[in-house]
Amino acid sequence: MKIEGKEYRTIWFDEKNQSVKIIDQTKLPHQFIIKDLKTVKDSINAIKTMEVRGAPLIGATAAYGIVLSIIENNDQTFLKKCSEDLINSRPTAINLKWAVDRMIIKLSGVNSNEILNIALNEAKEICEEDVKFCENIGLNGLKLIEEIYNKKKDTVNILTHCNAGWLATINWGTATSPIYHAQKKGIPVHVWVDETRPRNQGANLTSYELNEEEIPNTIITDNAGGILMQRGEVDMCIVGTDRTLSTGDVANKIGTYLKALAAKDNNVPFYVALPSSTIDWKIKDFKEIPIEERNSEELSHIEGVDEKGNVKKVQIYPKKSKSMNLAFDVTPAKYVTGLITEKGVCEASEEGLNKLFK
Ligand code: MRU
Repeated sequence: MKIEGKEYRTIWFDEKNQSVKIIDQTKLPHQFIIKDLKTVKDSINAIKTMEVRGAPLIGATAAYGIVLSIIENNDQTFLKKCSEDLINSRPTAINLKWAVDRMIIKLSGVNSNEILNIALNEAKEICEEDVKFCENIGLNGLKLIEEIYNKKKDTVNILTHCNAGWLATINWGTATSPIYHAQKKGIPVHVWVDETRPRNQGANLTSYELNEEEIPNTIITDNAGGILMQRGEVDMCIVGTDRTLSTGDVANKIGTYLKALAAKDNNVPFYVALPSSTIDWKIKDFKEIPIEERNSEELSHIEGVDEKGNVKKVQIYPKKSKSMNLAFDVTPAKYVTGLITEKGVCEASEEGLNKLFK
């Protein structure tokens, strides 16, 4: 997708420097900085500090982390340790483990002369596949937007939470892909962007990328979705997910569950967009999903630009106050109208997912 009119992807391999390029998302929207990851430690750090974030993108970064580990030290013991460290860099998004496991399976039994080439090709393939899957999610989700437009004959208002846009994937995004496809087809769309405290991925990233693609959007506080739904100003919700169980239960950014409850109460369709790499086929009970708890400083401090254009971080509440920063919640399947996947739209249930994927 575009930034200042130029096409980008979120991650790519720099053959000349044997490094991985990323867009540093901690600096957006005020600064656009492309950063080099040179070692596996750089990759782990980028995932932990959220220079890269979003389930599919952290999976791709981990895959390239494996490539960097081989460049650094082509040794099986080192590779095993790096794989574990990459998987443990963030707990909730299943794409991380999915990508590392896929790399390790691909590399098992490969001799040390060939391993780098094979690893690099597989990491690139993971990215290409994600782009294709997100594009198909867009085409499948487009039909849902089109249905609403055909009935309403007016702008379709879509609410989204966090950033499940192209910045969270390699290109297109998951939740945003149907929106980009609707715009391409000439359907008027407007997006309600949840600010998404504490890190403001909605305001800082989703609104930013929609602006760059000239999609009308309005940032709202995380608690405003309910009243907008009561007023009939939301036609549908589309969110992303970090881990969707085979039961159809959906883990996503904290606050998603409350949006789904409000949507149910107001008969607003609530869709979740995901590539199959985000499905956890093993866990059946959503209480077993590891929920990331992040540093409470993400709540107590906020970053922005001052009147001179300098980026500043300030403390926003009493130093003595305690805070808690749970980063994800789970929306039970019964509140999800449907799952938009690369293979089609299905019911959020074992039966629905099995029909598409088994
Ligand atoms: O903590 P983040 O910013 O990595 O959380 C991201 C989300 O919750 C996204 O909705 C999810 O990863 C889906 S990305 C297509």
